[in-house]
Amino acid sequence: LSWIWEENLKSFIATSLVVAVTLLVVVVTNSEKSNFLLLPVFGQTFNSDWMFSKQTYKAFKLHPGYVSIPKEEPLELHCDLCTIVSSSGQMLGQGAGPQIDRSPCVLRTNNAPTVGFEMDVGRRTTVRVVSHTSVPLLLQKPQYFFGQENDTTYVVWGPLRNMRKDGKGIVYNMLQQASEKYPRARIYITTDERMNHCDTVFKKETGKDRVQSGSYLSTGWFTLILAMDMCKEIHIYGMINDTYCKLESKRTVPYHYYEVGSRDECAEYLLHENAPHGGHRFITEKSVFAKWAKTHPIKFFKPQWQLS
Ligand SMILES: *[C@@H]1O[C@H](CO)[C@@H](O)[C@H](O)[C@H]1NC(C)=O
Ligand SMILES: *[C@@H]1O[C@H](CO)[C@@H](O)[C@H](O)[C@H]1NC(C)=O
Repeated sequence: LSWIWEENLKSFIATSLVVAVTLLVVVVTNSEKSNFLLLPVFGQTFNSDWMFSKQTYKAFKLHPGYVSIPKEEPLELHCDLCTIVSSSGQMLGQGAGPQIDRSPCVLRTNNAPTVGFEMDVGRRTTVRVVSHTSVPLLLQKPQYFFGQENDTTYVVWGPLRNMRKDGKGIVYNMLQQASEKYPRARIYITTDERMNHCDTVFKKETGKDRVQSGSYLSTGWFTLILAMDMCKEIHIYGMINDTYCKLESKRTVPYHYYEVGSRDECAEYLLHENAPHGGHRFITEKSVFAKWAKTHPIKFFKPQWQLS
């Protein structure tokens, strides 16, 4: 009997470890607030022409804002058409997969799966933009995400606190281990300067300081900022606009297409928009995206946005 007990103990310890690491990431994430104020504000010295000119993508065939692990080489990406696939339940039943796969570059976020959803979301993944909090989810299936045949580029964003390279950055350490185990994996992290730039853009567009307003930028925000620098044209699938949730005719869909039965998308958006701290301002972000789409080659499908 004692060996059975021992096996149980082992799996108990293993499970506890995973839970502990996940909790630590959450705790570290939530204490970001104090840390952020100490950082230099790099992006503010640039004017809006630099940030949003239609020509900027050409300047960023090699982007210094994203560096590889462990070599710290800039991200090399330049694409005529990037298709961003939202993780929204809006993707379900639309059959957009074949159309998405015809795009030269396909961008996805976090751990959103393709297997089992190919008809709706496609098969290919050129770039996966990943939140620091989602890294443990990728590491649950390391062979699938980082293994031999996989040529997807991973771009991870996160606060310095989790991403620092001095041994104290818990998420950085996880990624470094993954890169040792899977030396061919293409893993990049968002530099500190670039993180600050993304905050600066939020402040410039909304007039609100992200940290003081107690919110976090979404992975969608980081994805669009990356795409605007590196893609000549952007198509976005499955993203709702800022007024969608007020419509009588809105569809009730799960927040994530791969979490059927979870909270409805609009309910989740409202919760986040009004959370005093720790929320994502999804609706505010969408109104900024609509503004950008007036001066940038960005188009929205399923649902289509009417941009005047
Ligand atoms: C690589 O991983 C992505 C998930 O990021 C998956 O969609 C894709 O099928 C994988 N590709 C290969 C060739 O294994
Ligand atoms: C927002 O989306 C809804 C539904 O797709 C559409 O009726 C409305 O015109 C859109 N508003 C804007 C400003 O794009």
